[in-house]
Amino acid sequence: MIPQSFVQELLSRIDIVDVIERHLPLKKSGANYFACCPFHGEKSASFSVSPSKQFYHCFGCGVHGSAIGFLMEYSGLGFIDAVKELAGQAGLQVPDDGRGARPQDDGSERLYAAMASAARFYREQLKHAPPAIAYLKRRGLSGEIAARFGLGHAPDEWQALQRVFPDYPAKTLAEAGLVIDNDQGRRYDRFRNRIIFPIHDRRGRIIAFGGRVIDGGEPKYLNSPETPLFEKGRELYGFFLAQKAIRDSGFAVVVEGYMDVVALAQYGIENAVATLGTATTAQHIHTLLRHVDRIVFCFDGDTAGRRAAWRALENALESLRDDATLAFLFLPAEHDPDSFVRAHGADAFRQAATAATPLASFLIQELAGRHPLESAEGRAAFVHEAAPLVTRIAAPLLRLQVVKSVAEKSGLTQTEVEEAFGAIATRTAHRRNRDETPPAPPPPDAPSPRSSASAPRRTAPNRLRSFGRRKPPSTIGTLLRLILQHPTWAARLPVDLIPDHGAEGCALIAIIDMLSLGEPLPAGGLGALIEHFRDTPHYDTLSKVAAELVETEFDEGVIELIFEDTLRKLSADSLTAEIDALLQKDRETGLDSAARHRLAELLLEKRKLSSGGNTPDL
Ligand code: UTP
Ligand code: MN
Repeated sequence: MIPQSFVQELLSRIDIVDVIERHLPLKKSGANYFACCPFHGEKSASFSVSPSKQFYHCFGCGVHGSAIGFLMEYSGLGFIDAVKELAGQAGLQVPDDGRGARPQDDGSERLYAAMASAARFYREQLKHAPPAIAYLKRRGLSGEIAARFGLGHAPDEWQALQRVFPDYPAKTLAEAGLVIDNDQGRRYDRFRNRIIFPIHDRRGRIIAFGGRVIDGGEPKYLNSPETPLFEKGRELYGFFLAQKAIRDSGFAVVVEGYMDVVALAQYGIENAVATLGTATTAQHIHTLLRHVDRIVFCFDGDTAGRRAAWRALENALESLRDDATLAFLFLPAEHDPDSFVRAHGADAFRQAATAATPLASFLIQELAGRHPLESAEGRAAFVHEAAPLVTRIAAPLLRLQVVKSVAEKSGLTQTEVEEAFGAIATRTAHRRNRDETPPAPPPPDAPSPRSSASAPRRTAPNRLRSFGRRKPPSTIGTLLRLILQHPTWAARLPVDLIPDHGAEGCALIAIIDMLSLGEPLPAGGLGALIEHFRDTPHYDTLSKVAAELVETEFDEGVIELIFEDTLRKLSADSLTAEIDALLQKDRETGLDSAARHRLAELLLEKRKLSSGGNTPDL
């Protein structure tokens, strides 16, 4: 049995947006994130994820839940396995008894602090390193740009970091990748006599460094190793600084090098980011498409650049959306973005970015270029090679366009191409099964597949469809919605006035009980609050209401007024109920004098309440 305290701790540490984004490309719109619902077939995105509530909800088919609930639905895991999977992602150890959670990554704060100190030191050192300054000047960088990117210099010494870290042998320095321990047990600085490029995460924390030689030694760039803070395939150099420009310009430029990002910024092109010596990954594309609808990949004009572009294309297919464009800008063979912008200026670069080749054209051009389309054999090979790529295109309309182009070029009809694709795809799968040892079934608690492509589309088990208008909630219903939006207000509710029949009333009482028992308010948002009630009769009621709140919630500006008004209504409702009961008894059996007295009292109170209430009826 997993203790509730652990579930709560876990939900307070993870972000449902990250969890879901591992499986679905999410796109931000307003306060929430959206995707096409993985639980029912649809073309428009009605699946929404609320970061503030830590809850998801599909307006189309009605599925909803917390991060745990999502993993259970999506990956078909049981509750315990879903918790284990999430705990793994959050670096928490699942306790097997009542003991509390033990963070495995309690060192990450130390690591961030070490990286920040090192960065400060390198930056400071740049001032005392005339050759490094001269190098940056030679490459056309102003002091302002160097400062903006936090560029620094690692001194030409073996243990310069000893000056900032008096405890130089500390474990932290090795964990942060700042030092290297050699076989003889000697420790020295990883970065020596290099220009230092700090790498920030999306929140602006320094997680790694890149270091460039000044004099032409090897390797040209030395990077931090992967550490608990730094996973290369996830991060984009310059993203933190470029975010605003990416939003403002409506597109992001992806380049290959540190210097490309910095040089472009020097010329006023601030929406560029670089992959970190790796191919562009699906993860990179997801990240960017969350912020912007257009990505321009800018690669060197040489064959290596073309190959890198093709890799990016392959990794992008499953993330494509019909409302987003990915395009490829190929620079003249002798240029990289840095040298291009220097030679031709910012406007030329911007124009080239605007005119970049859209992904579908690049795909067709590249494939057509590989096969002689004059011959039947060439056309067949062309279709054969296109099949596995085109079938992975996630954007249905774009996929259709590409199918049409393949049809045109190959002299087949669209139907023939689709049929061929189906046949080729199945046959390839068969052959793979025959030729290779089949993959072993995953162990029962193996993590779920990370890419949405490999996860089968699941259908929602007969779930309430929330089409049409909902009927307005009762007083209790309104109170429950108010409390789920502001759980601390539960303490202000007169629990004796809440009717203990009806699902919503009982759920509301359960929340008040939970808080009056001294349970802390869940820190993991509404999702965590709902998880508290899993396996209780209130779970369905509460999660349904929470799902509604993802869609529409009370305006924060007036919610307090609504709350007070609803409390007044609650009193009025309870008075009315009591009055009605007495009146009925009067009709049936008559009232004794005490009861008659009580009725008079109640009627008076009700009159007071309705004349004193100056807020209009809701
Ligand atoms: P490039 O060799 O194209 O470097 O490598 P660059 O950015 O144009 O550098 P300059 O202009 O010569 O200074 C592109 C990227 O590949 C990674 C780095 O991230 C670099 O920015 N790389 C390259 C390494 O990690 N190590 C290397 O030795 C070389
Ligand atoms: Mn370069």
